[in-house]
Amino acid sequence: MTKHPDAVKWNGRYQSDGKYQQQGPPRQMLQDFVHLLPQNSVVLDAASGMGVNALFVAQRGNPVVALDISEVGLRLLRQRAKKLGVVVDTAVFDLTNPYFPPNCVDAILNFRFLERNAFPAYRQALRPGGLLFFETFLRTDANEAPGYFLEPGELQQAFADFEIVHSLETAVRGHRSGNMRPVAQLVARKI
Ligand SMILES: C[S@@+](CC[C@H](N)C(=O)[O-])C[C@H]1O[C@@H](n2cnc3c(N)ncnc32)[C@H](O)[C@@H]1O
Repeated sequence: MTKHPDAVKWNGRYQSDGKYQQQGPPRQMLQDFVHLLPQNSVVLDAASGMGVNALFVAQRGNPVVALDISEVGLRLLRQRAKKLGVVVDTAVFDLTNPYFPPNCVDAILNFRFLERNAFPAYRQALRPGGLLFFETFLRTDANEAPGYFLEPGELQQAFADFEIVHSLETAVRGHRSGNMRPVAQLVARKI
């Protein structure tokens, strides 16, 4: 069976010994707002990669399901989980056009990944009162591919029917490049 082009791309990145294997700290926004998450709440980490954020919440005691199209990234995640002595359930999963059962998770993490078709599925999967933690790159240059970048204001608008806990367009330092990159951040609660 032909592999999804994103799987080919990301498997290659995670397999190479270079910068993609470097695991930085959990995203600062998650660290800043994780206290909102009760320790028994079930977390879905969408496009988890090597699981820097999934492992962080698993270490707090949260049950976590990590989804990603890259089986190599998820294998690295499981190796790290074993070393840390925590459990994270993983599944190779394509978020291009996902379906999740209604009200099945208490929180969703979406960091450094953009798939607009997943927004309705996130909305459906979250239980009322559930939290969405979202941060990804903002488009600043007309030449950047719109598929990978949020437009200014877009993220907050997409979840305008949620209770907004935190919404900010700012710049954060990439742990690999060290460069500041514009991002949109959202922490929002499903009503
Ligand atoms: C920049 S990494 C972000 C990883 C992690 N969320 C983080 O913040 O470090 C983007 C991730 O999206 C995953 N990805 C790309 N396309 C995908 C798709 N269609 N379905 C699921 N995951 C995908 C990649 O495999 C990669 O692990």
